Amino acid sequence: MNRMARTAAGAAVTVIFAGALGACGANDDSSDGSGDGGDTKTIALLLPETKTTRYEAHDKPLFEAKVAELCDDCEVNYLNADQDPQKQQQQAQSAITDGADVLVFDPVDGDAAAGAVKSAQSADVPVIAYDRFMEGADYYMSFDNQRVGEMQGEALVEATGGKGDILMLNGSPTDPNAAQFKEGAHSSIDGSGLNIVAEYDNPDWSPDNAQKFTSSQLNNIDPSSLAGVYAANDGQAGGVIAALRAAGVQQMPPVTGQDAELAAIQRIAAGQQYMTIYKPIKVEAEKAAEVAVAIVNGEDVGETTDFQGVDSFIFDPIVVTTDNIADTVVADGFYSVDEICTAEYADACAAAGIS
Ligand code: GAL
Repeated sequence: MNRMARTAAGAAVTVIFAGALGACGANDDSSDGSGDGGDTKTIALLLPETKTTRYEAHDKPLFEAKVAELCDDCEVNYLNADQDPQKQQQQAQSAITDGADVLVFDPVDGDAAAGAVKSAQSADVPVIAYDRFMEGADYYMSFDNQRVGEMQGEALVEATGGKGDILMLNGSPTDPNAAQFKEGAHSSIDGSGLNIVAEYDNPDWSPDNAQKFTSSQLNNIDPSSLAGVYAANDGQAGGVIAALRAAGVQQMPPVTGQDAELAAIQRIAAGQQYMTIYKPIKVEAEKAAEVAVAIVNGEDVGETTDFQGVDSFIFDPIVVTTDNIADTVVADGFYSVDEICTAEYADACAAAGIS
């Protein structure tokens, strides 16, 4: 090799090496927000929306508390997309640019987020798909979402005696969980004697949309003839119940839900909503924090199961009706009796044995 060639080869090696260092430096430097040469690790938490109460009331604080407990030199960069997939795309991008060491990502739109997963991974930032599945993620954690739908459907069949007309309100078509809830619910409802008069895939899980859809259906159906309503989550159940009430229904037919929102637990205690699905979010949020901290510290994440090719952690959902409020959400400290049994619900609580 002549001198020129050797120099050129050396330069090429140097460039590649600097590139590799640059990629790694980009993470290390900027993840240390303090700029004091310390070793702060940044965990970005991307949540989808705020109308469903779980995200800001449970997921975020539980996740942050567990990270703080497990890791002194970790910080959480919290980003909420307000149900806007483009906004979430930008949030993911800036989290990566700002030096996040791992993304804990609950996508508004599972398909649209696939690009963000690729950008993160090409910047050596692992992605944990949080609650909603994302193709190609490094890890995934959620509840058994198919089972959630089955349990909601089974409860509705049982409460209605499997006879009569129902409305069916599913979740957002961009949310991969919504398809699983819907499939599970259909598997319980379709073989029963229930007749689905109208079915709606609610574009963004919006309670307002749920109310509008139900009101418009009640123009065609006699409200008192409705045997029940499948609502995929509590936000929508609230909208459905408001529409039924506005149409003059006094005695609510069985309405399903999910998320064990405080307002839903109160409605269940008062006999206005039949059931909800309680997903112990603590288990999910704390597992996400443990996995994220293990990743940034280069440690093992523990035993996983396979879900569609991704190393996963899948948890069990729980049905809540008026009979087991005390044994579930209260026993777990998800809500205190005082939170549920406000003055308005005191009689309902007494009747339901919640004290
Ligand atoms: C789902 C989630 C539910 C509920 C819903 C509405 O993906 O699993 O718990 O929050 O979104 O945002």
